[in-house]
Amino acid sequence: MEVVITDHPEQVLADIITEVVREGATTLGLATGSSPVPTYTELIRRHREEGLSFRGMQAVLLDEYVGLPPNHPEAYARFIRDNFTDHVDFDAVHSPDGMAADAKGAAAEYDELIARLGPVDVQLLGIGSNGHIGFNEPSSSLTSRTRIKTLTEKTRRDNARFFGGDLEQVPLHVVTQGLGTICEATHLALVATGETKAEAIAAAVEGPLSASCPASILQWHPRATVVLDPAAASRLR
Ligand code: F6R
Repeated sequence: MEVVITDHPEQVLADIITEVVREGATTLGLATGSSPVPTYTELIRRHREEGLSFRGMQAVLLDEYVGLPPNHPEAYARFIRDNFTDHVDFDAVHSPDGMAADAKGAAAEYDELIARLGPVDVQLLGIGSNGHIGFNEPSSSLTSRTRIKTLTEKTRRDNARFFGGDLEQVPLHVVTQGLGTICEATHLALVATGETKAEAIAAAVEGPLSASCPASILQWHPRATVVLDPAAASRLR
């Protein structure tokens, strides 16, 4: 695992993505939430000003809330369009179906789609303050596939800020790529900023590889890069 501590995580991540795109990558794995937004903003700038093109490429999302239609303001399918993909030129953007009547079947189909498109060349990841990646909460199986999960109260409280601060509005269930699915990507690139992530980062980077900190699975992956600002790195030894 490579750990990069920098005042400009978005530049490091945008450089990683720009390089694989220019080398002919076909599939990018995208995370939502606030952490990757500056990276998306920088990639949009490079698309507009420097000719960076995602033509011929597919994007796949990590996760989605169950019960939010794709146009709901807080649906991740909508979030990624608003913050990134509507402003660049991917051939297609895929996200898990949070509205499927057969949720289990739809999750399995999404996993198969990723296998067909993959391997994902670079999978961008954020990290929850409890160490989750995607929505694989602590105790998730390290070999899990795309499936329905129940959010912890901690994650729902963390994410209430996106729902006007109202915990009741935060869905209880999500569909998320599993840790096994995520680890099939060729390169995992995780970004964390701010003091609120420092403890989870210390556990992920320096703690034991354990389901109690799902992000610690990056220790096992052959190519993982963790990009941190100084605050997120502040509890590393
Ligand atoms: C979102 C996702 C989550 C977030 C994590 C951190 O697609 O997979 O794991 O990356 O909850 O969220 P932020 O960046 O909002 O702190």
